Amino acid sequence: MPRRVRCFLLRSLTCGDVHPYRRAMPDPSVTNRPQAPELGLMTREGAVRAADIYQRIREAAPVSWSPTFMGWLIMGHAEVTSAFRHPQLSSERVDATLEPQLRRAAPGTTDHLLRFTRRFITMKDGTAHATTRRWASRGFGPQRLASWRPVVERTTHDLLDAVATRGELDVVKDFADPFPGRVITALFGVAPADQAMFHECSERIASFFGGALHQMEAAAPRANAAIARLDAYFRGRLAQERHQPGEDLLGLWIAGHEGAELDEEDIVAQCIATLVGGNITTTDQLAIGARVFLEHPEQLRLLREQPELARPAAEELVRFEGSVPFMHRIVKEDFEFGGKPFKKGQTAFLGITSGNHDPRVFEAPERFDILRKPGPNLGYGTGRHTCLGIHLARLELEVALQTLFQRLPGLRLDERRPPRVKFNLLTRGLESLMVRF
Ligand code: HEM
Repeated sequence: MPRRVRCFLLRSLTCGDVHPYRRAMPDPSVTNRPQAPELGLMTREGAVRAADIYQRIREAAPVSWSPTFMGWLIMGHAEVTSAFRHPQLSSERVDATLEPQLRRAAPGTTDHLLRFTRRFITMKDGTAHATTRRWASRGFGPQRLASWRPVVERTTHDLLDAVATRGELDVVKDFADPFPGRVITALFGVAPADQAMFHECSERIASFFGGALHQMEAAAPRANAAIARLDAYFRGRLAQERHQPGEDLLGLWIAGHEGAELDEEDIVAQCIATLVGGNITTTDQLAIGARVFLEHPEQLRLLREQPELARPAAEELVRFEGSVPFMHRIVKEDFEFGGKPFKKGQTAFLGITSGNHDPRVFEAPERFDILRKPGPNLGYGTGRHTCLGIHLARLELEVALQTLFQRLPGLRLDERRPPRVKFNLLTRGLESLMVRF
């Protein structure tokens, strides 16, 4: 592969959850493939037909070494499920991935970013993860749905009110982008005076962890400064909440648990991890959702005629085209997986969307079918790290998509300006989705 292309691919992978190029240890038996199909995933055109590329890789082998990504691609449903649960596949990725990528940054421009990311729930294993998860789960159980629903409904209507008479909109910029940030702001009970600062910080962090591929270096110092600001903000809030716990997420997390399992820095890290986990994933999924329904008018008609289908529709959407197509893990110790020799320090990419299109599990997986019988959807992960915000995410998708299509009944794709897909191995979304009504 030409050096320039390789550099681009490696840097591309550094966006958000990152890739440890320095640890590349190719499996010599498979590095001589003439044209690795996964190379296509790093082009805009390939990203459009990603499901076909996943299928080709999966059919060739459910577990294979990728010279392109210099890691293992795990693509079959059974194999992805087992990898998510495997104790030798670690989530502690910061020192192996993010830290080497940020080494060239100017001194003092990444210290907060690294310090807090290291403590994110997503980056922990074993007991440290279990303790954090137990603590964080208090704010995210299904019993919270009743209090979230009005926030989600109000956010949806406010955003649609602003565009309802315009006749056209960019679903990404005008709707999907601001949506999750506003919901999270409300969940955290951010006072009106702090909301502008909170949104700005939240966006800077989101664009580092899930933004366009080439922007990482510029985004890191901005995300770093945003984390420093939110650190000060959340510490101030914690002092208040300890004195008088409110009904918001922070209040729920700390009420009756002062001085318990997590120290203050850990608590702040989980607040920021929630901003990261719940922001770009939801934006991307909403944008994809609007596009998928507009491309499947018969499914859209069903959704409009039978609003009770909104919940299974949201689930099918995440299966069919999830906003998190891959998760990755680091191999802790040498072991064999899927008949392949995994070596300590290597990266394994868990193909979530590929698993969700495995015909051994989902019949006619390439069909978007909101009446489909529920199956073992991997779109929110599985095992210890299964999405903590899963109930909130489902509610957001259900309410936002249903309301969008009800309130704007003439919605159609703007043929003059086709949707632009973001191309990035680890996240899937749209740069823009122009629609008319
Ligand atoms: C459609 C939207 C969403 C998708 C597709 C999604 C997907 C995922 C996936 C695949 C994981 C597993 C990560 C792993 O195994 O390493 C995950 C974890 C997580 N998600 Fe989500 N997510 C979404 C929305 C949300 C929301 C709304 C929140 C909170 C506001 C959230 C918070 C989290 C957190 C904190 C974790 C880490 C859990 C842990 O490590 O134990 N997510 N999500």
